[in-house]
Amino acid sequence: MAEDRGFPLLRLQDLSHYYGDSRTLWDITLQLDVGDCLCLLGRNGVGKTSLARCILGLESTSGGRIDLCGEDITRLGVEQRVRRGIGYVPQGREIFPRLTVEENLLLPLTERRGNGIPEIVHELFPVLHQMRRRLGGDLSGGQQQQLAIGRALVLEPRLLVLDEPTEGIQPNVVGDISRAIRLLNERHGITVLLIEQKLGFVRHTARRFAIMDKGRVVADGAIEALDDDLVQRHLTV
Ligand SMILES: Nc1ncnc2c1ncn2[C@@H]1O[C@H](COP(=O)(O)OP(=O)(O)OP(=O)(O)O)[C@@H](O)[C@H]1O
Ligand SMILES: [Mg+2]
Repeated sequence: MAEDRGFPLLRLQDLSHYYGDSRTLWDITLQLDVGDCLCLLGRNGVGKTSLARCILGLESTSGGRIDLCGEDITRLGVEQRVRRGIGYVPQGREIFPRLTVEENLLLPLTERRGNGIPEIVHELFPVLHQMRRRLGGDLSGGQQQQLAIGRALVLEPRLLVLDEPTEGIQPNVVGDISRAIRLLNERHGITVLLIEQKLGFVRHTARRFAIMDKGRVVADGAIEALDDDLVQRHLTV
């Protein structure tokens, strides 16, 4: 595979993005190597979700380049990117409330005629098996988040992009989500791009960080280098 030839898993080079006349992203350059677990931090409205959507192809970039394992995917559609191994857990979860848990999980497979729900989904989140006949909308917020992560895993991605997976979730489930992400990364070798604002969770879960401010990446490094000064300058409201 391409990743064996030493290419980074994901490489963003000078990405820019606009909503109409309003510029959202400025020259975003960021690299994730195979096996990385990088957290993208930043205050509300700095462009984190927009960047995630550009990586998925849900938004088009107006300049720059995106490579996945050495392949230029900048012009590919969402479907083609997903097929190449990008999984996405959107902010706000976006599960289907009127479908059962099982139907939510099977949905991505109908497109691709896969082999059913991979074991790892129920291994990570046994509750999804116990509640498989319940409607997605009847689950708690934390369970819906587990469902959203489970759904992203069904197509067995090599890169998982998670957008604020702990937003509005009870503290006990936050721990479960951190453990699940670490397990996926460390044991299953899935590269992780985590967008988060909760610093405790980030320090516990990620190995590297990048901070965005007003549409630009302004700092990055090993998670240990995320000090009070950076937090004060770019993250404190
Ligand atoms: N569909 C849209 N049309 C126009 N402007 C948008 C749209 N979506 C987001 N924006 C604007 O783009 C900027 C970046 O938004 P984005 O959602 O990417 O930020 P974010 O860092 O994810 O914020 P949050 O932490 O609140 O989720 C904001 O100013 C936002 O108001
Ligand atoms: Mg966002």
